[in-house]
Amino acid sequence: MTTGQASGTATTASRRSLREVAFDSLKGLFAVGDVTCDCAARAVHGLLFSEPVPAEYAWAGTIERLRADLESSSEAVSIALPYAGAKERFSTVGEICRRRSKGRIWGLLLHRLVRGFAPSTALELGTCLGVSTSYQAAAMKLNGRGRLISLEGAAALADQARKNLRKLCLDCVEVRTGLFQHTLEPALRDLGSIDFAFIDGHHDEEATLAYFEMVVPFLAHRAILVFDDIAWSDGMRRAWARLRADPRVRVTLDLSIIGICILGRDLPKQDFDFPSLSRVQAAQVVPHIRRAVRGRLPVDAPVLVVSRGDDELLELVSRRAQHFPQTNDGAYAGHHPGDSRDAIDHLERLREGGAEYLVFPSTAFWWFEFYSDFRRHLELHSLSVHQDEDCAIFQLSGAR
Ligand SMILES: C[S@@+](CC[C@H](N)C(=O)[O-])C[C@H]1O[C@@H](n2cnc3c(N)ncnc32)[C@H](O)[C@@H]1O
Repeated sequence: MTTGQASGTATTASRRSLREVAFDSLKGLFAVGDVTCDCAARAVHGLLFSEPVPAEYAWAGTIERLRADLESSSEAVSIALPYAGAKERFSTVGEICRRRSKGRIWGLLLHRLVRGFAPSTALELGTCLGVSTSYQAAAMKLNGRGRLISLEGAAALADQARKNLRKLCLDCVEVRTGLFQHTLEPALRDLGSIDFAFIDGHHDEEATLAYFEMVVPFLAHRAILVFDDIAWSDGMRRAWARLRADPRVRVTLDLSIIGICILGRDLPKQDFDFPSLSRVQAAQVVPHIRRAVRGRLPVDAPVLVVSRGDDELLELVSRRAQHFPQTNDGAYAGHHPGDSRDAIDHLERLREGGAEYLVFPSTAFWWFEFYSDFRRHLELHSLSVHQDEDCAIFQLSGAR
């Protein structure tokens, strides 16, 4: 097996910048000289180094607004899978969305892969609420072609996903309910030949490899398989290692969380490692945020950051930065505020506790629209000291 030039290990990444590691792997991938590899390379390159194109950006905005609605929903939903004797289990739509749906960057990766590769047929294992499904289906809509069958075991989640896809007018998707063990085979037969598949459910070594074996005979001459959570457990790490070593899988991209396999007999066997996209992206935005923080804020001011739990972002912003929202001991709360009232109450408690500034990285700008009363509260009771395309900073102290 040939190995791509770059290794994404933490040690290598610390010696060279994450950007350089990613760049070397991209160069290797482009050098394969194959249109499908080019398409995967362009999808990753676009996310790391260039602005999203307007149509994609518009779709991402629409899907992220849907996500924000879902994340704040307290509607109860049954999540039990239909195994014989399985006990009924409930959660809320908000909780499920926060825990299970792929984040924006990974959604955009799927979107860009589908945009560039333009599959006629695609399959998804694990619809959940339909967030990743929407990113893929939106790309098909922009492509003007493509059919996607998405499989989900929990009937109530499948219903939610259908409702969400209808809301977004994404009608190229069919969501089928039932265990993959029962629904995969008929879906493969109905699609006939598969160009693209995203496997994001039943993250178990044996199951993952079994689904791979079932899908392979149906794959088109050139196909892309995307596996989620490749490092989620020892079993998943083993499954990913087996997939990479499999002679039928020719080119792989290891993006730390997601693994991409490109199949096609005529391709050379090559593996490429990347640092996690979210880390590289954060590393790119953070210098701008840090510059803004240093330019505007006193050294070591107590700062709150709308961080979505990213500790690295805190470290890079300031020595006294804390998550917003947070638990009593300052750890990330684990979810966004339920509504504006929650956000306001929480902010006021932290302001009384000494917080002096609130920083919004650009990835959290959607808060201003979604929590509109919270935004008004900030406008009335704090001072906007910085606003550009990378971040917004509010002074909380002495500004009431
Ligand atoms: C991680 S979630 C999918 C998230 C979704 N792809 C997204 O990013 O928006 C995995 C889903 O697979 C479903 N699932 C897990 N094992 C399954 C099985 N054996 N058969 C059918 N569905 C299954 C779960 O109910 C869950 O909703």
